[in-house]
Amino acid sequence: MSRRLIVAVDGPAAAGKGTLARALAEALALPYLDTGLLYRAVGRRMLDAGRDPALENAEAEARALRPADLARTDLRTPEVDRAASAVAAQHAVRAALLAFQRGFGHANGAVLDGRDIGTVIFPDAPVKLYVTASARSRAERRFRQMRGDQTIDPDAHEAAIARVEAELLARDAADSARASAPLKPADDAIEIDSDRLDARAVLLEALRIVQARIAETS
Ligand code: DC
Repeated sequence: MSRRLIVAVDGPAAAGKGTLARALAEALALPYLDTGLLYRAVGRRMLDAGRDPALENAEAEARALRPADLARTDLRTPEVDRAASAVAAQHAVRAALLAFQRGFGHANGAVLDGRDIGTVIFPDAPVKLYVTASARSRAERRFRQMRGDQTIDPDAHEAAIARVEAELLARDAADSARASAPLKPADDAIEIDSDRLDARAVLLEALRIVQARIAETS
């Protein structure tokens, strides 16, 4: 039933898109692509080359991207967060990564998560989800991810979480304000607020939306 189905999962940083998109892909037996990883890998290549991602054109690095770049284990540092956001604002970089993302989805269907999947990469996707959460709960989620410990008590790390929240808000502001494919929900996206729901409830809600869309379009 899910053959060639495209599910777009967009939203701001650390809202739970990746967790949802991975679980959805597994439940629907579809390939999964974390498109943020593409921008992270381009940002990483710029840093490795000693180039400033905020000032210099990164198109050549985007065109040179190889699978090994995506498999690196150093793509989720704060430095790479900033570099990824900077290269993601460059239209030529986005253009260079477009065909790969479309090809990935068209091959066998896919669940893709990112910022512009429903607006630019697959504007005709039958299912578009926009995952949101408050800045505070996104900062707590990102902090726990960074520490590799899901049981951390956020109240014991107030100052560090406040810093993560400030970084997230700055990155969201840059992602939303850029001219090329800014972060925003597609007109026909269905919003899921992950503040009120745990990961399992978010997945069940998303699956309900997918089934309803499939029933409507078949
Ligand atoms: O989802 P993430 O935090 O790994 O994304 C890293 C950066 O890449 C983030 O600043 C937004 C940008 N991005 C984008 O502009 N478009 C996408 N489809 C995915 C990510």
